[in-house]
Amino acid sequence: MGLGMIGGSLAAALKANGYAGRILACDRDRDEITTGLELGVIDEGGNELAPLVARSDIIVLAVPVLAMGQVFAQLVPLVDEQILTDVGSTKRRVCDAARETFGYLPANFVPGHPIAGSEKSGVVAANPALYRHHKVILTPEAGTAPTAVAAVRALWQRCGADVLEMPVDRHDQVLARTSHLPHLLAFSLVDTLARQDERLEIFRYAAGGFRDFTRIAGSDPVMWRDIFTANRSALLAALDDFEAGLSRLRTAVEQGDSDAMLGTFDRASHARHYFETLLNQTSYQTMEARQVQYRVSPGGSVNGRIRVPGDKSISHRSIMLGALASGVTEVKGFLEGEDSLATLQAFRDMGVAIEGPHQGRVTIHGVGLHGLKKPAGPIYVGNSGTAMRLFAGLLAGQAFDTELTGDASLTKRPMARVADPLRLMGAKIDTAEGGRPPLKIHGGQPLKGIHYDMPMASAQVKSCLLLAGLYAEGETRVREPAPTRDHTERMLNGFGYKVVRDGDLATLQGGGELTSAPIDVPSDISSATFFLVAAAITPGSDLLLEHVGVNPTRIGVINILKAMGADLQLENPREVGGEPVADLHIRYAPLKGIDIPLDQVPLAIDEFPALFVAAANAEGTTRLRGAEELRVKESDRIQAMADGLTVLGVDTTVYEDGIDVVGRAGDGASYGGGQVDSLGDHRIAMAFTVAALRASEPVVIDDCANVATSFPGFVALANKVGLELTEAST
Ligand code: S3P
Repeated sequence: MGLGMIGGSLAAALKANGYAGRILACDRDRDEITTGLELGVIDEGGNELAPLVARSDIIVLAVPVLAMGQVFAQLVPLVDEQILTDVGSTKRRVCDAARETFGYLPANFVPGHPIAGSEKSGVVAANPALYRHHKVILTPEAGTAPTAVAAVRALWQRCGADVLEMPVDRHDQVLARTSHLPHLLAFSLVDTLARQDERLEIFRYAAGGFRDFTRIAGSDPVMWRDIFTANRSALLAALDDFEAGLSRLRTAVEQGDSDAMLGTFDRASHARHYFETLLNQTSYQTMEARQVQYRVSPGGSVNGRIRVPGDKSISHRSIMLGALASGVTEVKGFLEGEDSLATLQAFRDMGVAIEGPHQGRVTIHGVGLHGLKKPAGPIYVGNSGTAMRLFAGLLAGQAFDTELTGDASLTKRPMARVADPLRLMGAKIDTAEGGRPPLKIHGGQPLKGIHYDMPMASAQVKSCLLLAGLYAEGETRVREPAPTRDHTERMLNGFGYKVVRDGDLATLQGGGELTSAPIDVPSDISSATFFLVAAAITPGSDLLLEHVGVNPTRIGVINILKAMGADLQLENPREVGGEPVADLHIRYAPLKGIDIPLDQVPLAIDEFPALFVAAANAEGTTRLRGAEELRVKESDRIQAMADGLTVLGVDTTVYEDGIDVVGRAGDGASYGGGQVDSLGDHRIAMAFTVAALRASEPVVIDDCANVATSFPGFVALANKVGLELTEAST
């Protein structure tokens, strides 16, 4: 019903995508029907509703939102089993209209909203590609029939749209902010300028900025009047927030407050870039993961000289400590991966001005330990357990409340390990069931230092407590059952905040101050590992990895590979910004299976997926024990690797705290190929990529989008050194 641009595009898209049913259109305007028939987008049409309704299965109301009530009234006596849906831009109004006319919300009515449009109107503007890769939001209520929802979902999916669901009011609030408010502002700005200049002289000089900002002011005035009317309260709330922000900015301009201006523009500018890179460029964005699949050809060897991206652990900490320091911190070699970018954005949201990143350089205008401001919404830390746990400590000491959220994988990971000791320090933290995220942290709680014996060897827990300790009264002492990475302690010391190390105990005194210091982030040994293993398992390989961090608490992988017989040299060792660095030179040499020494486990905790691939190419069995922590990483890494290795034909035995991998070293390929699931775990995806070097058939790896969290540019670098890897997105 309603054969305008929106309805016409739906019909055209269905036709273009091989929809087998007949498409009947009803429109008050006979010319629209005639044009629709001429264009071939509809099969039949007319302006009398009853006969068309009687022959329909699904009725799509593509009429203006304010006309929905009248249309429902006409439909009441006519509809029976038919499924009803609509395309209105505001959903509360449409649902209320349906409820009023029918007396209840029909179970077969599925409110919908395709987030796509054009300034053009009429069926002549019908575009079969309008909905492709665009979102369609459905807002079913409790009583909506699931079969009806499934049918409407299938209809839009047929047009190439991504369909998602949300509650009615949430839809209206989201759209008020992302669509209705910008349209209102564009209309208002153009009108204001046009009135000020009767002869419209000003438009002659209008440059790109004006044109970009006001494009949407050319949209249909009647339609927008209707939308603003229908979504009044959500729009007014969005407008209030906007006016408050505008007035703050006005004051800053008036008073020449350069810091306030820079802070706002910087946050906005980076938020804009951040969302563009993070999200997939359709007009309504969610944090849904893209589906990325890797396909790796079997065989080959790796050669050359490369530099892998910056260390993830150090990158997170550089932003955190830089923000809390007084003074300006310059960071070099920052990892521009999704997780560290999320950390950076979180501090912008808490009022810290941060310039960059630009080619790994970031400038942080520190606000001091007590200078953070309450963020407007929850802090989203993506896939990163490190970020969530370190943030928990740091935020427990703030004066304001915060909420920490993350992606689907992070939402399954244990947070009681930080929430429990933080509570002992006096923090007030709520978790979801089972100690899982999201974490709600209540600000304004006085913290006191504690002595904590960690039940597991975790640098994240240690770092969390040390960060909370900055805000605590007295001494915070953390004992670790085995050495774990010490980047937090080193960086705190580098920022002039004393952390005393005494055997297995790290101690700091609360109430001090951090002073900014330059940070040079070395390449991440965890990322380098995939190439170390690639070279270690393939005859003919000779690879140099430059500027890799070789902090003694991170070099388990080097020790383990050497114990397995790898030909691996550390060249040009040096210290950069408080962290030891070297170039790693690795050449192929036959490997043998070993029992991995227990003391190396925490020092190689992130490297085991790749090390299991090394083990699969060794002679004899490699045994790992004492590694139960692997089960609570981005995936259960013991099971995920065992499952993938089984697909390739490698024998494994899984234990609660480890695995045996039976090596298959030989003259030719070590194992077969096949399709493995990375379970969205970046390190599983990269480990199986490398495994393909010794496979007899291609290896296909599913769910690889998260490689971007730790290793942007992995695919290009892998191809550069000799792997044959292609990626496909769906
Ligand atoms: C990290 C610590 C380790 C590691 C993670 C990064 C850090 O986790 O697995 O990738 O930056 O502190 P745990 O401390 O939980 O073992």
